[in-house]
Amino acid sequence: MNTATAGAFACAAADWLCDHLRDEPRSVLALPTGNTPLGLYAELIERSRTGRVSFDAARVFNLDEYCGLPPSDPHSYAAFLHEHLIAPLGLAADRVRLLRGDAPDLEAECRAYDAALSDCGGIDLCVLGLGVNGHVAFNEPGSAWDLRTHVVHLSSATRAAHERQAQTSWAIPARGVTLGIKTLLESRHILLLIAGSHKKAARAAVHGGVADRNWPVTSLLAHPSLTIIELCAPAERR
Ligand code: GLP
Repeated sequence: MNTATAGAFACAAADWLCDHLRDEPRSVLALPTGNTPLGLYAELIERSRTGRVSFDAARVFNLDEYCGLPPSDPHSYAAFLHEHLIAPLGLAADRVRLLRGDAPDLEAECRAYDAALSDCGGIDLCVLGLGVNGHVAFNEPGSAWDLRTHVVHLSSATRAAHERQAQTSWAIPARGVTLGIKTLLESRHILLLIAGSHKKAARAAVHGGVADRNWPVTSLLAHPSLTIIELCAPAERR
């Protein structure tokens, strides 16, 4: 689905999530960080405040995290999700499980995260953004598609994009921890959100419709319940 304004983009994404949540209030959600979902999160908070959706029975996981950062670090994805969704929605701590990038044993953290997901019955609703180089979560170009949660080396393209976004002298960590494509593909329903005029090549890979290891987002194309919502504002069509 194409949307022409940021408002329509956020509403369409919120409709997708709220419709599913109404059908299955106990859904397990896997949620992204980044600029793309900010409008969606604001819309969900507003709908929750006005009683149009409830997250009380849902469970929330995140997709990825920088290695080495505790959740208290303002640059962490955990802090982002807390600020933009978890705290405003007032989600109970026992309904939320976020990746710990500062775990002393990251391999053990990956296995514990997989176990926590599996204990909840796996992901029902997976919302994904799109990286400038076609990454989803932190699954970088060329990476294997048969992995669950794992540690990755962040590509120079990803680090450069994040450096620009951070707009500070903060040094982007060299590694991240991410849900693997195998886990993403096991989700019952996937929503891919695409926004950003700088993502032309990644958008073209999606529209090309061919699975290509160099464009991790194309791993999603064969999923039986994939919804794509794209923001195609006039400025983004150029
Ligand atoms: C990061 C995250 C992804 C996110 C992507 C796009 O790399 N690891 O999960 O989807 O950025 O970010 P943005 O929405 O800011 O373009």
